[in-house]
Amino acid sequence: MKEIINMKNAMKIAVVTLVSLIMVSCFDNAKPNYQYMPNMYAPVGYETYGDYEIFPSGQEAMLPVDGTIPRGWEPYDYPNTTAGLNDAKATLTSPLAVTQESLAQGKQLYDIYCAVCHGEKGDGQGILVKREKILGIPSYADPGRLITPGGVYHVQMYGLNSMGSYASQTNQEERWAITQHVMNLKATLEGTPLLVPEEPAADNTEEKSTSTSVAGH
Ligand code: HEC
Repeated sequence: MKEIINMKNAMKIAVVTLVSLIMVSCFDNAKPNYQYMPNMYAPVGYETYGDYEIFPSGQEAMLPVDGTIPRGWEPYDYPNTTAGLNDAKATLTSPLAVTQESLAQGKQLYDIYCAVCHGEKGDGQGILVKREKILGIPSYADPGRLITPGGVYHVQMYGLNSMGSYASQTNQEERWAITQHVMNLKATLEGTPLLVPEEPAADNTEEKSTSTSVAGH
């Protein structure tokens, strides 16, 4: 009697082992596993670029409304023409206050983007000029060019002949910071007064001492 039970148990174990072996051997690692709750795997909502008749363009992702501008981007109204450049030189002024930070930021970005051609001093003697890779880089002190903040900003927006546009690499504030640095390079070359931070130095120290005392707690 005992032996029969053992036989039955052995049979059960053999069947279970066999079935598991068959299931495991048929499993293909290269294919997705069984999905018991497909909604947890496949999206229920619309796919961004899927085709759906319900949308006017036939696609879920639609174009922005005409006239939409990215956050932080302001329209620039001067056209990319010689008249536009001259107009910007004469009438466009900087909205960015001169601060120690803006001057430092301007120098940093200028050294990254502009110095290869214009030189760190703005004398038109960048590394590419010295290696004779590019010609016709003006000095900012060139008397034949009227270099004004508006003009410096304008050429960063659109570029000028062999100089490219920097509108996609920099934002508005960064372009005005670079402009401050260019105006200071020009002033240094010409020996005229530099732009100095507008805020009184006393304010700065006060702010710093408050933040240190807060940090100390
Ligand atoms: C690839 C080299 C190159 C780089 C990099 C470059 N420039 Fe220029 N830039 C030029 C050339 C060439 C001119 C002269 C274009 C002309 O008048 O035909 C010029 C002209 C200028 C002028 C004079 C425009 C005028 O009113 O006559 C300014 C200002 C200027 N660049 C600023 C910048 C600033 C700021 C940057 C960096 C954001 C920069 N450039 C980066 C090549 C370069």
